[in-house]
Amino acid sequence: MCGIFAYAGPGNCAEVIINGLKSLEYRGYDSWGIALKTKNNIELKKSVGKVSEATELEAVKAYAGIGHTRWATHGNVSIENSHPHTDSEKRIYVVHNGIIENVAELRKFVSGDRFYSKTDTEIIPKLIARLLNRYSFPAAVKEVVGKLRGNFAFVAIDRDSNYLVAARNGSPIVAALNRNKFYISSDLQSLVPYTDKAFLMNDGEMAIYNLDDSSVEFYNFLDRKEIIKVQENYSVQFGDCRRGDFKHFMLKEIFEQPVRLRQTFEVNVTDFDIRFAQPLGAGIFKDINRIVIIACGTSWHAGLVAEYWLESLVRMPVEVEYASEFRYRSPVLSADTLIIAISQSGETADTIAGIKEAKELGARVLSVCNVPGSTIARISDATVFTQAGPEIGVASTKAFTTQLEMLFLLTLYLAQYRQKISPKDVINYLKNLAEIPEKMERVLGKTEQIIKIMEAHYTVSNALFLGRGVNYPIALEGALKLKEISYIHAEGYPAAEMKHGPIALIDRHMPTVFICIRDQSYEKVLSNIQEVKARNGIVIAVANDNDKRITELADHVIFIPETIVELSPFLTVVPLQMLAYYIADKRGCDIDKPRNLAKSVTVE
Ligand code: M6R
Repeated sequence: MCGIFAYAGPGNCAEVIINGLKSLEYRGYDSWGIALKTKNNIELKKSVGKVSEATELEAVKAYAGIGHTRWATHGNVSIENSHPHTDSEKRIYVVHNGIIENVAELRKFVSGDRFYSKTDTEIIPKLIARLLNRYSFPAAVKEVVGKLRGNFAFVAIDRDSNYLVAARNGSPIVAALNRNKFYISSDLQSLVPYTDKAFLMNDGEMAIYNLDDSSVEFYNFLDRKEIIKVQENYSVQFGDCRRGDFKHFMLKEIFEQPVRLRQTFEVNVTDFDIRFAQPLGAGIFKDINRIVIIACGTSWHAGLVAEYWLESLVRMPVEVEYASEFRYRSPVLSADTLIIAISQSGETADTIAGIKEAKELGARVLSVCNVPGSTIARISDATVFTQAGPEIGVASTKAFTTQLEMLFLLTLYLAQYRQKISPKDVINYLKNLAEIPEKMERVLGKTEQIIKIMEAHYTVSNALFLGRGVNYPIALEGALKLKEISYIHAEGYPAAEMKHGPIALIDRHMPTVFICIRDQSYEKVLSNIQEVKARNGIVIAVANDNDKRITELADHVIFIPETIVELSPFLTVVPLQMLAYYIADKRGCDIDKPRNLAKSVTVE
């Protein structure tokens, strides 16, 4: 989604902002732009496509500037629609993330102004400019921000006064001051090269930076009050943001999973006792009788796996909802409902909206999140953090498996809390969990075989992914991985559902990927495989080591080590991630930045 990076201070402003925008590239974008403030003017550059080196900008002697990567929402991909946007006098320049919902209503305040873009953003500089005959630039922004409806974050700069102003309402933005260098970004991670402390801004807050004396003030535009904020330490390891020798971030992140799982385990388990790194707080599980999990995309798939675990081990009713649907259908919640919100980024707008709705209805919210300081971590009653490190590839991999690990630990913890499991069984489960990283390394060693399967089938147009029980969500995840990075149409189903429709698609061109491990459904899934073979379909199976029966049926088998059934998703998902990756690579796709997708979906 859109990204914002702004800088004021010494050095080459354009270079700092371009590097900032490049560090936001992984979020997904289609055009970009920069406005640079010089002694008497503002220089503007906008472009469609990737952020270039923009050497002509680096020659501009600027002491502040704002930059933006745009992912089109209102208005097509074009230079006119890319940010920064300005007013008729070209005095105020604004970059903006999110959506202003009341543009039509606001237009009456700027009648006579000509609009050059189809965006909702252009109204902001125009509204600010209209007030400059009565107000200073910061005061004008304060007036305007109170009129805007919707979720937004924006930064505004003025040609004629020495301020940089940022505002947040529902869309993430952080600011950081390191001596006389001031940074604003929509993504904490992009500040890592410059500082390890930042002002984590809340909804309703504005930052007003004075370029003359390098001071920053904060203001709450909802309460109309000045506020004091201090910078907080945050921890993102810069080394994690580098691709190293891997061709793509996604491949690096797939191979990083065992390390990340070990780290997540070590941080939260001591001597086979679950002691979460972040205290959950005494009341979070008290008197709960029902769990509702909300999430989107891959995180939603992690929630579906957790549903099996929670129901079987905690014996509590669990529902898993798409966050986007949950919010809009009058959910029935009460104080005995625990919401578990799952999000890698902590900034997914639909999940944030779901959490807010749940809190208003009196439910408690526990989040599983990968980004400390993110909106979701800050608005939840408690948060447990995955140790995935920064995930740059748009297709989620290591975030997913570390989410699974945290959800399994939460399941065991809650089962213990409700006395549904013996201490001996907890230790046994934890021992099995501790063995997963090493087993996963063995799966990662199957690269050559997976590449061979890829070579045979990378040209297909459709694929089906089937699994049962705890591996049904993994079938969904395998299909999502394939479609989002290779653009092959893929569907995931519970294997038994095949005969209720998808079987009509099977022919000699159509591969079906079966997750067929030795669990209670094993025989039934073998029958499903036979049904596909009887219709000349291609079968790729993920099965347990030494399974001779499957070798006789399937065209290709990727063997994975044995583990307890509950933990099998950790191992079954990896070959599906790898298959999707190698197919997309062979097809020449832009794997880390698939078309139309954004890493963090910050609009509803
Ligand atoms: O940051 P989140 O976990 O909240 O993101 C949710 C989805 O947008 C995300 O999982 C998406 O589906 C990924 N591209 C999947 O690979």
